[in-house]
Amino acid sequence: MKYKSQKVAYWFFALCMLLFTLQIVYGFIMGFARIGMDGLHDFIPFNTARAVHTNLLVVWLLTGFMGAAYYIIPEEAQRELISVKWAYIQLISLAVVGVVAIVGYHFNYWEGRKFLEIPRELDYLVVVNVLLFLGLILGTLFTGKRKTTTALVLSMGLLFAALLYLPGMIWFDSQVTDSFFRWWVVHLWVEGVWELIMGGILSYLLIKLTGVDREVIEKWLYVIVGLTFLSGILGTGHHYYYIGVNKIWLIVGGIFSALEPLAFLAMALFAVYMYRKGEKSHPNKIALFWTIGAAIVSFIGAGLLGFAHTLPQTNLYTHGTLVTAMHGHYAFWGAYAMIVLAIISYALPNITGRKRHDKTNGHMAFWLSNIGMLGMTVAFGVAGVVQVYMERKMGLDFMKVQNEISIHFVVLLLCATLFATGITMYIIEFIKYGKPSDEAMTTDTH
Ligand code: HEM
Ligand code: HEM
Ligand SMILES: [Fe+2]
Repeated sequence: MKYKSQKVAYWFFALCMLLFTLQIVYGFIMGFARIGMDGLHDFIPFNTARAVHTNLLVVWLLTGFMGAAYYIIPEEAQRELISVKWAYIQLISLAVVGVVAIVGYHFNYWEGRKFLEIPRELDYLVVVNVLLFLGLILGTLFTGKRKTTTALVLSMGLLFAALLYLPGMIWFDSQVTDSFFRWWVVHLWVEGVWELIMGGILSYLLIKLTGVDREVIEKWLYVIVGLTFLSGILGTGHHYYYIGVNKIWLIVGGIFSALEPLAFLAMALFAVYMYRKGEKSHPNKIALFWTIGAAIVSFIGAGLLGFAHTLPQTNLYTHGTLVTAMHGHYAFWGAYAMIVLAIISYALPNITGRKRHDKTNGHMAFWLSNIGMLGMTVAFGVAGVVQVYMERKMGLDFMKVQNEISIHFVVLLLCATLFATGITMYIIEFIKYGKPSDEAMTTDTH
């Protein structure tokens, strides 16, 4: 059964594609700057490009999560959204806040706190926007005919993500305290509540795509939520090793963060088992690729590559180097980018009524972007290990080392080109699907 108001999701997905494209442009600006081609330096210096690149990432992913919620919640709750008009107002205000922040960054209107660069005055607009979003989603869910585990986990993730934004808005005079609470946002998002969002979307997609019983799939979801909370909360300690807080965090952070890969492993096993158990009759194979892919790649990027530098003994050397960038790229890509691309791939044929999901383009988009991102991860990784060795073992000067490793950024740029080609193909497919149609929303598919 489909609901007309699910169409709202399409426009969130479209904004998502636009912001994603911009994010990649800023990635290239940094990549070229790294090999000495820094012609834009006067207007877009590296630090500005970096803040724009990572903030656009966070905003396009959140836009994707919101689109996912507008698509999934009506179907799970079995009713239309409580207000379509307000959903569009929320979309437009989100775009406006995003544009103001991004333009502002180019005029040095930003705070120097990695990932949370949005100035605090603008944060209030973010809060209003997110409250509106949550009101619409929770209002729909709680007045609906059913409250499924999938919908509850997804909404709980979104609600907690909003609440956890608040510690990042408090002003502290001490850098240590400021850093301490910054991780409540950054870490508890990606290694806590965003995992619930991912789990919820994953569960919805697996129910739809594999045809396995909801009861079986949702039982796994409980296990994933349990493992996430068990490890992720105290795992925050892996950011507290040498920042000036109590030494107890060396042990607590080390032990609990080392358990974090379990939640990602559970998601990967979950997806693969459900796929093997399923009927394999669903026509939208490309959505299935992205879904299973997200579960597997997130285990590698977040689980394995996260584990690689999470113990205090290793983090002492790798902290803040390109080893972190290696892990950051593959983790964000696998867990959150791929799951957003999965739900979009699933929703598009249903919203537009056009069935393009068996086109070669879509498969090429999947493989090129994945091979490209894997290559980029390796390039960052090699550069990172060399950096750690030269800078922190041999004791060479920071800038001298950055110069030595610039060759790895040539490789990075080549792989990034492959990646960007894949994403371009994905976006061309998105455009070719065309606009949503009311007719499509009244004919039933699964
Ligand atoms: C999808 C989930 C994850 C994402 C998106 C992610 C992303 C990131 C990003 C962007 C950073 C840099 C943050 C900053 O410096 O502000 C980071 C740092 C870190 N991550 Fe993850 N991560 C994830 C999961 C994990 C897991 C499961 C582990 C451990 C097993 C882990 C271990 C670490 C460590 C130790 C650092 C600190 C690196 C340093 O000291 O510079 N991450 N992560
Ligand atoms: C054309 C593609 C891309 C290129 C060339 C690129 C390049 C870069 C560069 C050069 C940096 C700065 C590293 C440094 O500090 O020196 C960076 C940071 C970052 N990028 Fe990308 N990027 C691309 C796409 C992406 C995508 C698709 C994602 C997410 C899925 C992503 C996530 C990140 C994150 C999380 C950071 C911050 C890492 C950290 O905190 O250490 N990037 N990127
Ligand atoms: Fe963390």
